[in-house]
Amino acid sequence: MRILLIGSGGREHALAYKLVASPVVRKLWCAPGNAGIAAQAELLDLRPEDLDALTQFARTERPDLIVVGPERPLILGLADRLRSEGLVVYGPSAAGARVEGSKAFTNELLARHGLTRKRFSVFTSPAEAKAYVRREGAPVVVKADGDAFGKGVKVAATVEEAEAFIDRCMVERAFGRAGETVVIEECLTGPECSIKVFSDGENVLPMVPAQDYKRIGDGDTGDNTGGMGSYSPVPVLGKATFDYVVNNIMWPTVRALAEEGTPYVGTLYAGCILTANGPELLEYNCRFGDPETQVVLPRLESDLVEILQAAVEGRLREVQPRWSPRRCVCVVVASRGYPDAYEKGKVITGLDDAEALDDVLIFHAGTALCDGLMVTSGGRVLGVTALGDTFAAARERAYEAVGRLHFDGMYSRTDIALRAVEAEARHG
Ligand code: GLY
Repeated sequence: MRILLIGSGGREHALAYKLVASPVVRKLWCAPGNAGIAAQAELLDLRPEDLDALTQFARTERPDLIVVGPERPLILGLADRLRSEGLVVYGPSAAGARVEGSKAFTNELLARHGLTRKRFSVFTSPAEAKAYVRREGAPVVVKADGDAFGKGVKVAATVEEAEAFIDRCMVERAFGRAGETVVIEECLTGPECSIKVFSDGENVLPMVPAQDYKRIGDGDTGDNTGGMGSYSPVPVLGKATFDYVVNNIMWPTVRALAEEGTPYVGTLYAGCILTANGPELLEYNCRFGDPETQVVLPRLESDLVEILQAAVEGRLREVQPRWSPRRCVCVVVASRGYPDAYEKGKVITGLDDAEALDDVLIFHAGTALCDGLMVTSGGRVLGVTALGDTFAAARERAYEAVGRLHFDGMYSRTDIALRAVEAEARHG
């Protein structure tokens, strides 16, 4: 098979590593990829948002399968464009990708199908949005409806904070068209978790659970990031909760989308909150998680390509993947300054030493080759991943590998997977 993978981060490197492990794959392209993915794939100098260029390439080369990593091209309609050329794509249509691209769409879909108890309201007028906030009181959650690159959600502790964020979205237009509509939701409390499934448009197949760390600093302090680390499985996520979310929220969502004429083929990612009244959906993403994919796919013992093929052919029910019981931990190594401004072009040393460790996989995110040297080219640079029979072993190995790496301004959190180690020590 010849496969085209779209994207350039650590998630895509984990996908590339698993795709080329399939005995049926004889060619992998990645657009645009990164310096690490170059070991698995031929890199194409095409941006994921350049739908015309990607479609032109795919029309000419006719890959057997196209796997789309990031949400943006899906929201822009890449899968639709490719399917209209008769190509086979793992990733939802633009209509399906609205589960991530429009918070109003998702809330209204869930409400129409009785899949949420959450109070929410949708506004296109800032005055009406503010009046609602004054009636509801704080705390309250204000969300820009569209894709605001992870910056469009405010958990407002006071009415004033909520009003200021409404202005930021709707009056100052800080997020452009993404903030023209806002969704105001009740503020739910409880531990958060995320669950991801493969979907074939009718049935879903859950992946093993994984938990990420969103904040930049130890102890979950500081700014939100794309993700500073992850681990799998998730000791605090019980089977009953996991099954409830898959069977009572995610699968019915996929069926609801199909009933409404937009069958969803691709990965569905649910960010959930475990409230005292049971699990609730906070948000959907229309893609694999990053850096969760880096700890999920190393545990997959079956052929990823078989699963993706079953998904695109509508026969996920026939697939029963095998997952390793081993623990997996990913520590993201970032550039000083991230998630704000950071420098690029710093030479990375120690990669061979780190990768030589047993059970270690290094997924590249922001790297480039410059005059034969591996250099940093992004905020998140590497996802240093290790497997172990216990969380303690996996974590120790991941940090041992991090200790062998160096570049100017290298930063990582020191507490990734610590709570999983503690939970495992408590419950075994
Ligand atoms: N790790 C969070 C995300 O993929 O959106």
